[in-house]
Amino acid sequence: MKHQDIIEKMTIEEKAAFLSGKGEWQSRDFERLGIPSVFCSDGPHGVRKQAGAGDHLGLNASVPATCFPTAATIAGSWDEELGEEIGSTLGEEAMAEGVNVLLGPGLNIKRSPLCGRNFEYFSEDPYLAGKMAASYVKGIQSKGVYACPKHFAVNSQELRRMAMNSVIDERTLREIYLTGFEIAVKEGKAKTIMSAYNEINGTYANENKHLLNDILREEWGFDGIVITDWGASNDHARGVAAGSNLEMPNPGLDSARELIEGLKCGKVKMSDIDERVDELLDAVLTLNENAKGKSEEFDKNAHHNIARKAAAESAILLKNEGAILPLKSGISVAVIGDFAFVPRYQGAGSSLVNPTKIETVVGMIDNYNLKIVGKSRGYSRDGEEDAATRKEALDLAAKADVVLFFFGLNEDSESEGMDRNHMRIPQNQINLLQELGQVNPNLVGIISAGSAIEMPWHHHFKALLHCYLNGQAGAGAVLDILTGDVNPSGKLSESIPRRLEDTSCYRYYPSRERTSEYRESLYVGYRYYDTANIPVLYPFGFGLSYTSFEYSNMKADKDGVSFILKNCGSRDGAEVCQLYVSLKGAKVFRPKKELKGFKKIFLKAGESKEVRISFDDKTFRYFNVKTNKWEIEEGNYTIMIGASSADIKLSTGLYVDGTTTDYPYDASGIPSYYSGNIQLVEDNEYRNLLGTDIPDGKWSGLLGKNDAICQMYYAKSGLARFAYKRLTAMKKKADESGKPDLNILFIYNMPFRAMAKMTAGAVSSEMVDGIVRLVNGHFFKGVGKIIGGYFRNAKRNKEYENRLKKAE
Ligand code: BGC
Repeated sequence: MKHQDIIEKMTIEEKAAFLSGKGEWQSRDFERLGIPSVFCSDGPHGVRKQAGAGDHLGLNASVPATCFPTAATIAGSWDEELGEEIGSTLGEEAMAEGVNVLLGPGLNIKRSPLCGRNFEYFSEDPYLAGKMAASYVKGIQSKGVYACPKHFAVNSQELRRMAMNSVIDERTLREIYLTGFEIAVKEGKAKTIMSAYNEINGTYANENKHLLNDILREEWGFDGIVITDWGASNDHARGVAAGSNLEMPNPGLDSARELIEGLKCGKVKMSDIDERVDELLDAVLTLNENAKGKSEEFDKNAHHNIARKAAAESAILLKNEGAILPLKSGISVAVIGDFAFVPRYQGAGSSLVNPTKIETVVGMIDNYNLKIVGKSRGYSRDGEEDAATRKEALDLAAKADVVLFFFGLNEDSESEGMDRNHMRIPQNQINLLQELGQVNPNLVGIISAGSAIEMPWHHHFKALLHCYLNGQAGAGAVLDILTGDVNPSGKLSESIPRRLEDTSCYRYYPSRERTSEYRESLYVGYRYYDTANIPVLYPFGFGLSYTSFEYSNMKADKDGVSFILKNCGSRDGAEVCQLYVSLKGAKVFRPKKELKGFKKIFLKAGESKEVRISFDDKTFRYFNVKTNKWEIEEGNYTIMIGASSADIKLSTGLYVDGTTTDYPYDASGIPSYYSGNIQLVEDNEYRNLLGTDIPDGKWSGLLGKNDAICQMYYAKSGLARFAYKRLTAMKKKADESGKPDLNILFIYNMPFRAMAKMTAGAVSSEMVDGIVRLVNGHFFKGVGKIIGGYFRNAKRNKEYENRLKKAE
């Protein structure tokens, strides 16, 4: 062990206490041992350092920091250099604020457009998500701050995220839900990782040896620390035994006692504890060393400009009929839409950044060479119809050459802690845009939304620019694109389906039971639409430019492909070239094509360049559940270069040798997976894919400490049912007000055990047992345990503290 000398001096109480947090954001320090603490803060589209009262829901204020576009936005740039630049800027700000670990990037797979946190995640594709995440990690860590890719893993649903069992077959787990993390760890060299709230196949992510030890540490060579998501620890002893280092945020000394008891009863070995302590010591000492002599300043303006460049590079031009964009100089323009006045530039929840400044379109548009006929909010953000404002907007629109309409998802649509239940934008915005289309055909739409939305109205627009949530400097970036100062180069990192019903997990998401079954398997996003021939509105990888590109001269060899890319237009611009691979008639089922590489190439007008995209260890591999290894199927692969997943420009064949003929599946037992028609997979097929029985996900019977509070509707105790009703009423009221209450949402979806994990030691796990008994109708036994537990907890905490003091 690296820090044997310190470990030898530590008592078991000190070791156990070291492995859980001392407050909302810090690890414990031990003066006598020279062990300082480290400070964690949320990221990753800006540093959320809370100097005062801490919370993990973005409720209390944080110090000002640059608010960059969110991950969903930056993924549209497909630019790893940009990701690294943002990362290093974030690292610099974190360092200046005394933050040692930046809790991000988030790279869960966008399984459904409904996930409330999609705005924080990169893509529906693990390769793109992993590459972008790795670039952030490299940037952040280049400044001596550790990045913390999250949430590891299979955490693609917000609803009851802390009490959810993700049921998934091993191949889908590896190929879709872990590959991104693998890239962030192996290529980005991430030094910390955050374990997710949910269970995976019946074992909590934070206690999952398969995940944390066999895959993360053994296979990927991760040598850093695993930090639990806030309140994600279930059984600390099992967590430590599985490879988890730091339970956050502040379980008081209850978890430390749990660990010591776990040692006594053999749940965890002393050697596990020592290893976890050693790894954590290494992180804590290195991070404190890195922070020595740090600067406390950062250049706010320079960082704002990086945020602006990032927003400009990430916006995606979906449509541009008659080359209405860029706007001709001097043209008359009506600026309509509340988003032009109050931008929606980030999402809600733990990633909420307090920006150093905010630009708005109405505040900046006068600096451009346009004739502004007027500005109107047009619709109200609360969804209500407002006749006077609507009339004002329509009158302006009638007078202008072009209407710029700013619209999208409201703040209450997307947030941590909840999922959307539809993909529509508010109806009052749709009503207005339809009317605008009637008074002026030159309608240009500028969308703000953190995730895919249904766009049945898109034909009203001549041009559409999807800006996602583009950070504090988004307004300037948008105006630069609209006026042609910047040539758009973003491409979609997720498909835009025609309707929610077309999504592959439509029938499985969100799960309302205890289990969330990933029945659609590998068929997420374009992997599904493409294979099952479901038309989409805008495909994965799609985005327009003000110039055009020509692809030619493709050559493939065993190490990669090369081709010539030419900018044939009259403007400089950048193109995202995408490498897809397919194997027709494969013996092992697979999506029609999969992204295996990409490159963003900048070319001057008229310029051409030879582009090379190399193959890597992921190009031909699949996870074989029979040999339990990554394997390659022998065959004649089609290697494609595309401008999007649906626009293949060049293709060629390449024969590749296989690594095994021990194929894992009997195709007759899983026909849907071979056809890609997986929207309604029957139990027997799913069972065949899983290779095990499907766990029972029904809610019934007695409630346990890991059941969510919102399950109390069927509790035996009338008191508990009453509490449930009160909470539900409060939730409903907040939801209806248009501003969901994140605190109530969190409590609603959290399991009982979280009370012991997040109350700084005030509630012990014994008291939680009492609460659960009470909920199950054993009033007196429950209350007895709660009261007795309260006093026992206070006494044990005191004794523990005394033992810690004695060691000093
Ligand atoms: C979120 C994490 C976040 C943590 C700390 C949790 O609720 O899931 O992403 O880092 O809180 O704020």
